[in-house]
Amino acid sequence: MEKLLVIGAKGQLGKELMHCLAGEKTELGTVPLFDMPYIFEGVDIDELDITDREAVLEFIQKGAYTCLINCAAFTNVNLCESQEEAAFQANKVGPENLALAAKAIGAKLIHVSTDYVFDGEGTSPYKETDPVCPVSAYGRTKAAGEEAIEQVGGKYQIIRTAWLYGYYGRNFVKTIQQNGRDKGQLSVVSDQVGNPTNAADLAHHILKLVTSDETGIFHGTGRGLCSWYDFASKIIEFSGIRAKVLPCRTEDYPTPAKRPHYSALDHSHLDEAVGDEFRPWEEALAYFVQHQNDQIQEGI
Ligand SMILES: NC(=O)c1ccc[n+]([C@@H]2O[C@H](COP(=O)([O-])OP(=O)(O)OC[C@H]3O[C@@H](n4cnc5c(N)ncnc54)[C@H](OP(=O)(O)O)[C@@H]3O)[C@@H](O)[C@H]2O)c1
Repeated sequence: MEKLLVIGAKGQLGKELMHCLAGEKTELGTVPLFDMPYIFEGVDIDELDITDREAVLEFIQKGAYTCLINCAAFTNVNLCESQEEAAFQANKVGPENLALAAKAIGAKLIHVSTDYVFDGEGTSPYKETDPVCPVSAYGRTKAAGEEAIEQVGGKYQIIRTAWLYGYYGRNFVKTIQQNGRDKGQLSVVSDQVGNPTNAADLAHHILKLVTSDETGIFHGTGRGLCSWYDFASKIIEFSGIRAKVLPCRTEDYPTPAKRPHYSALDHSHLDEAVGDEFRPWEEALAYFVQHQNDQIQEGI
């Protein structure tokens, strides 16, 4: 029987996974895991700080899990620039500890990573095998986490995602909705392109990976490419907000962290392993906007 542990269970993706595991369904339907007996638990930093090696080894050993799903990370991309050591602890040392703990008991580690491991100088979707070349502290620490897991060498699946939004916590979609309502006019960068990803789609594919023997690096993002400006325009349109969205350039909107200009991801490995059922990004966004209030009313 599968015994799963979701780490970072109070975060945006972690909560989505916990919701799916509890309900034995995902927004996209079902996955093979739901046809078999399984139990699951979730922890976050208040119960288990993944940077504490001894605590991690002891917790995982005691729990006798078959699969760890790591959604915990230092995810504030701009703050990583001034707090790179703290980010390194959470994004490199933490995953390394989990990989060691998983290997010690023969469990699998599913770890979530990012498109920001790439420099964005590409012009066609990045393949899983393309060399990483991060341009930010966040990207460096996440790339170091991937490398650490690979070096530990147990059973692992690393899934890189991008531009993630979901029902829980703060994200770009909710910020644009709020700013649109409050300000009526927004400037959004149009020269950075990527794949907006609904956390429900990502959770579906992560849960499919649980029962797959295929290991290594996978890419899991919403289908189709757009700029932050295109993304914001659709958020405003689908939400029925009366606000104007204006395009601007990266240099007009300076941020502490440099971001890749192009970060579309190719899904070949995921498709081969479990099938690529990610929705086109506009479809997943439209569904999210229609249903985000239902989730809030359910008190999730
Ligand atoms: N959000 C995106 O756009 C995006 C894009 C690409 C990839 N990703 C990756 O996707 C994954 C999930 O992201 P998310 O948006 O769900 O992140 P999130 O909402 O920030 O959740 C991360 C969770 O991890 C916890 N955490 C932080 N440090 C920890 C530690 N040392 N030990 C245990 N727990 C710790 C956080 O607690 P606190 O809140 O108390 O710190 C939080 O509950 C991450 O690996 C992230 O790098 C995200």
